[in-house]
Amino acid sequence: MSNSNLELHRPVYHFTPPAHWMNDPNGMVFYEGEYHLFYQYYPEATVWGPMHWGHAVSTDLVHWEHLPIALYPDALGLIFSGSAVVDWKNSSGFGENGKPPLVAIFTQHLMEGEKAGRHDFQYQSIAYSNDRGRTWTKYAGNPVIPNVDKIHDFRDPKVIWDEARQQWIMVFAAYDHTMFWSSKNLKNWTYLSSFGKEYGAHGGVWECPDFFPINVEQASGTTGVQQQKWVLLQSLNPGLPSGGSGTQYFVGDFDGKTFKLDPEFETSVQNGKAVWLDWGRDNYAGVTWSDVPKSDGRRLFLGWMSNWDYANVVPTQNWRSAMTIPRTLTLRKTGNAYRLSTQPVRELEKQRGKKYSLANQNVSGKVDLTEKAGFSSATCELDLEFTPNGKQVEFVIELSNAKGELFKIGYDGATNRFFCDRMKSGNLDFSPKFATQVDFAPRISTNKTIKMHLFFDRASCELFADGGEVAMTEIFFPSEDFSRLTISANNGDVMLQRADLFEIKK
Ligand code: FRU
Repeated sequence: MSNSNLELHRPVYHFTPPAHWMNDPNGMVFYEGEYHLFYQYYPEATVWGPMHWGHAVSTDLVHWEHLPIALYPDALGLIFSGSAVVDWKNSSGFGENGKPPLVAIFTQHLMEGEKAGRHDFQYQSIAYSNDRGRTWTKYAGNPVIPNVDKIHDFRDPKVIWDEARQQWIMVFAAYDHTMFWSSKNLKNWTYLSSFGKEYGAHGGVWECPDFFPINVEQASGTTGVQQQKWVLLQSLNPGLPSGGSGTQYFVGDFDGKTFKLDPEFETSVQNGKAVWLDWGRDNYAGVTWSDVPKSDGRRLFLGWMSNWDYANVVPTQNWRSAMTIPRTLTLRKTGNAYRLSTQPVRELEKQRGKKYSLANQNVSGKVDLTEKAGFSSATCELDLEFTPNGKQVEFVIELSNAKGELFKIGYDGATNRFFCDRMKSGNLDFSPKFATQVDFAPRISTNKTIKMHLFFDRASCELFADGGEVAMTEIFFPSEDFSRLTISANNGDVMLQRADLFEIKK
């Protein structure tokens, strides 16, 4: 598809709903060759409203086929965020003809209950499908977890099979903490434990957790026992340092009942401190795919590329919001510290079109890559490595159009931070919260050479720095596409080891 067929701002290789409102990704599960993506959807307007689960499938994480709405509101309420699993052993008994059912686990939100001032209007329900997620039947015994303690915010269940203990584990968010429950059959649930009141950021309500085991990345050539840790992703709104919605995470161990932080990690999340999955303002409520085959082994993540600070008013016409690109999460140990790295999925490499490369050049002042490459930067990938000469050097990648609108992303040597600047990026009027400041992400790596891997798709930028140690995702709305890309060094020069610019096609 060429860009000219698309409405202004409609991304080319990011997932968007055909029309109307979308927020969180839901029910992400892989089954019979298909990645399922359900999502919070309001099919009657381009603003948030009574929630349904929209649905799409993909075989490659890049091209999506839109399917009919999967779950509609019912007498128990709207269909809020949640997850889906393949019930391989038919523990639920929902399966037919010897095939495992897909089971979706979600929050129902009873508007009438909320309006009446009750506090038990959110609870967890389930539904199942025996036709590859095409049609769904809600369980007659819903809700499977009623809100007996009357906790106002009680939502967003994510279920995982705990292989070691042969039990299903559900995590969901309860206002200022994460709850852990277990089940043998996805229908009857037992409370296990709570985590988080005293850890991490609490600027707002906790939402959309995810919980999974992950292997610790080993240096090549290492032998010995593969170490495993458990990771809890925990979105919260508001509370991101640069404003609004963001996702923090925790690393520790799980004994089948309780999540216990790793000692180093515990010190990093005390007294309101947090560790962020993404420092940009537009990666929220992201979770990972369930049931990715062991032979693949990846932990695949996708987030909602917006922020509740302005999501309802961003200047798109027929639809609202896109998802991030799918990403692979890995866990690295540096010294005593376990940290997640985020990388774009390798499937995206197939979308690369024309390429322009530079190598071993000194850059001082501005270099216009678009002029040399001969293709527009509206939808492109830029992968580069440079070494600053001196501590004060600022390295900037700038996207711009003929109207003088621009977006900047780069590295500031003086403060050792990456930054994102959308303060002149075009349409800013729709919300006073959209472009209030330049946003920052502290650099972690101490290597002299800095790596920046970037994805641009008309209205968004995703940065994966230093092999994914730092991620930053931000959206913007130029009045015409940013067709020009320049790189520049200020306050000194940089040695550019390598810069590969790719056009990205649908
Ligand atoms: C997060 C969230 C969830 C909720 C859903 C409602 O963005 O607020 O907590 O389930 O959106 O659409």
